[in-house]
Formats: sequence, C-alpha cells, structure tokens
Amino acid sequence: MTTRTQVAIIGAGPSGLLLGALLHRAGIDNVVIEQRSADYVLGRIRAGVLEQVAVDLLEEAGVATRLHAEGLPHDGVNLSFDGQRHRIDLHRLTGKRVMVYGQTEVTRDLMDHRAAVGRPTVYEADQVTVHGFDGSNPWVTYVEGGVARRLDADFIAGCDGFHGVCRASVPRNAIQEYEKVYPFGWLGLLADVPPVDHELIYGHTERGFMLASMRSSTRSRFYIQCPLTDKVEDWSDDAFYDEFQRRLPPDAAARLVRGPSLEKSIAPLRSFVAEPLRFGRLFLAGDAGHIVPPTGAKGLNLAASDVGLLSRALAEHYRGSPAGIDTYSQRALARIWKAERFSWWFTQLMHLFPDNGPFGAKMQRAELDYLVRSEAAQKAVAENYVGLPLE
Ligand code: FAD
Ligand code: DHB
Repeated sequence: MTTRTQVAIIGAGPSGLLLGALLHRAGIDNVVIEQRSADYVLGRIRAGVLEQVAVDLLEEAGVATRLHAEGLPHDGVNLSFDGQRHRIDLHRLTGKRVMVYGQTEVTRDLMDHRAAVGRPTVYEADQVTVHGFDGSNPWVTYVEGGVARRLDADFIAGCDGFHGVCRASVPRNAIQEYEKVYPFGWLGLLADVPPVDHELIYGHTERGFMLASMRSSTRSRFYIQCPLTDKVEDWSDDAFYDEFQRRLPPDAAARLVRGPSLEKSIAPLRSFVAEPLRFGRLFLAGDAGHIVPPTGAKGLNLAASDVGLLSRALAEHYRGSPAGIDTYSQRALARIWKAERFSWWFTQLMHLFPDNGPFGAKMQRAELDYLVRSEAAQKAVAENYVGLPLE
C-alpha cells in the first residue's frame, strides 16, 4: 500500500505537529507518522513556558485562540537563595514577556487543528523506517494495524524526539554529537492546587534546586533536584511536598497548598547537540537534533523555532529557491547553541553540585550575588529567558 506526500513528518510531538500546521498554511501537503497513540502523546507532562517566538509561530499556524484565552502572560520571574527572593523584571528589561501554557495544551490544540483541516496523522505506527534520503526520492515504511505501508515523499522531517529513528538512521561518520550529562535529575509533581506565587520561582538551596511553576491559577507544577538513583516510587506525595516546602523561600512556603499528584516523574538532565541537521532530503528538528536541561524552559521553544525555520525553508524550496533548505542547519544551529549555552549556564547557577568543591560553591554564590545586584547581568538573563529573536 503506497501513498505519496510532499513532506513526511516523523513524530507527532510539538515539533512534528507544528511543522505540519505551518506547512499546511503554506499549502504544502504533509503526513505525520507517530509510533504512539494520541492519548499517550497527550499524557506526557512536559514543558510549561512559551517564548514570544513560539507564540508568534502558533499564531502564524492559526492555532493560538485558546492559548490567548487561557495562557497566563508573565512579566517577571523570581530567583531565590538564602531564603530571599529576587525578581527579574522581564518586561521592563526586554519589552517582552513569556506565556505560561502547558505543552499538553499546545499539543492538543495542534491535534485538533490538524483534524479540522483534514491533514492525515497515522498513530500507533510500528517499525517506522526512513529510506533513500541521500537520493532524490526518499520514502518511509511502517506497519499500521498489521498492514505494511510505504509513504513516498520529497522530504522527510525527523521530529521524532531524542530516541527517534531519524537521527539513528544517519551514517555515524556523517554526524557529530556533543553531549553533557548532569549528575542529578528533576522530580516533578503536577497537582490541582493553586500556585505558591503568581510568578515562577527558581530556587537554589543547600538541599538542592527547586522550581515552583504552574499550568493555570488552579494547577501547579513543582520540581526538585534529586539524585539519579532515586525512583519515583520512593517519593510519596507527602515526602515530595515536605522536601519542596523546605526549599521554598519562607513567604511562598507558607502559602503552599498540598493536593494529590496527578502525575509524578523523574527526568534526567542532559545537554546534547547533533551537527548538522540536514542529511540530503532528511532534516532533524526539535529533540531529534538537540536536548537542553529543562532549567529555563528552552526545549519546547527550540522545537518551535526549528520548525519555524524549516517550514520557511521548505516553502522557499517549493517557490523555486534552494537557499532556505541549504542554510536550515546552519541557521537553526546558531540559535540552538545559544539556547544550549543559556540552559547549561542557568543549570550550573541554580543546582547543587557537590563535586564542585568549596571553591566552586563560592563562585556559584558570587555569581548569584552579582546577578541580583547588577541590572546588566539581569538584562542578559532576561533577554535569554524571553527568547532570542528568530533570525
Ligand atoms: P517529542 O515531544 O519527544 O516528540 C517526538 C515524538 O516522536 C513523540 O511523540 C514520539 O512518540 C515520536 N517518535 C519517537 N520515535 C518514533 C519513531 N521511531 N517513529 C514515529 N514516531 C516516533 N522542556 C521544557 O522546556 N521544560 C520542561 O519542563 C521539560 N520537561 C521535560 C520532561 C521530559 C521527561 C522530557 C523528555 C522533555 C522535557 N522537556 C521540557 C523538553 C520538551 O518537552 C521537548 O523539548 C519537546 O517535547 C520537544 O518536542 P519534539 O516534538 O521535538 O519531541
Ligand atoms: C517548567 C519547566 C521548566 O523547565 C521551566 O524552566 C519552567 C517551567 C514547567 O514545567 O512549568
């Protein structure tokens, strides 16, 4: 059973679905092939903060109505250490703000839009394999409901996340990978309780990092740094709340409301970049090409900016110019490395690194002190936190 499309998109996470919506806007035919079910994809609780660039792309794709109705614009963000909290006024320092709106909601909006415009998505596709991308006629094979299928395409977009098949299909000698693994994870808990503050609080404490985030005025997302050896089963809700509360600044700790977890999981922290992001007629976008540690909420935003660039490049190609697809990798990587730098730096600033020794701990403390006293330093943080422009 063979079908044909212009762009075969592997993966129905935010990068694949947003790419599909942007290509649809540009009149470019596309099919999304996803190995999991739609419910499984929607059940993954991940990011929660959107940069203006991501909001703009969702608007361009025609998928921002609910985001504007239900998203929470945030003008500032708080850092806490030594029990004191320090606000970084994002809007005053940059003229921009961020939008709190969960990845699950972005994904749901994109799925609904895709269904409404009638572009096909194959869920629960098995044995997805990409072929012939070094020539001019690439194709994808997969098994759907026990039936072997083939999809021919002009291009394949690898939007299949860090563990996907696309990057793994590139010959080893054609790709260079850069990686840093951090010696701890984030234990996250989602609950229907009000946020401890109207803005996010990132905290550095002698017990480790904490982040108080939210999805709405009635739903909170809390994180604590934990050892990689911890298992989520070891953490009862009460144990989580006890530890989280100890790491909150006192005013916020007094406001903490506890409620049963809707989800609880441990995520490892990693920095990773693959270069390049184009291999003939195969492109990598989002987590398929890079990973950032979550500190600073850049993962979802980078996925959006990658596919913003890729959709423009493909639209240029179909208008007759190869310039966009020839420069996609270089342009995307320039932005990716800057987000990698910020996420790496912010991770080092805020977490507890017992192996850094007393000198490392003093340097970290000096950097925090400098940051909260220097408007110039705060401006540099703010400009990265709200997101660099899409050039
Ligand atoms: P994904 O969301 O991973 O989507 C890829 C899709 O491809 C998946 O649906 C997958 O099932 C599918 N797929 C994989 N292999 C195949 C295959 N062989 N065939 C077909 N389909 C395939 N970012 C933040 O900013 N803040 C956070 O708090 C945060 N928390 C995170 C927690 C976890 C556990 C993880 C893994 C990531 C987190 N991120 C966070 C990062 C952010 O969620 C990602 O950057 C974002 O999901 C990237 O989107 P994507 O579409 O590129 O990849
Ligand atoms: C969230 C996650 C982040 O990594 C972050 O920096 C801010 C918010 C969140 O899940 O809400």
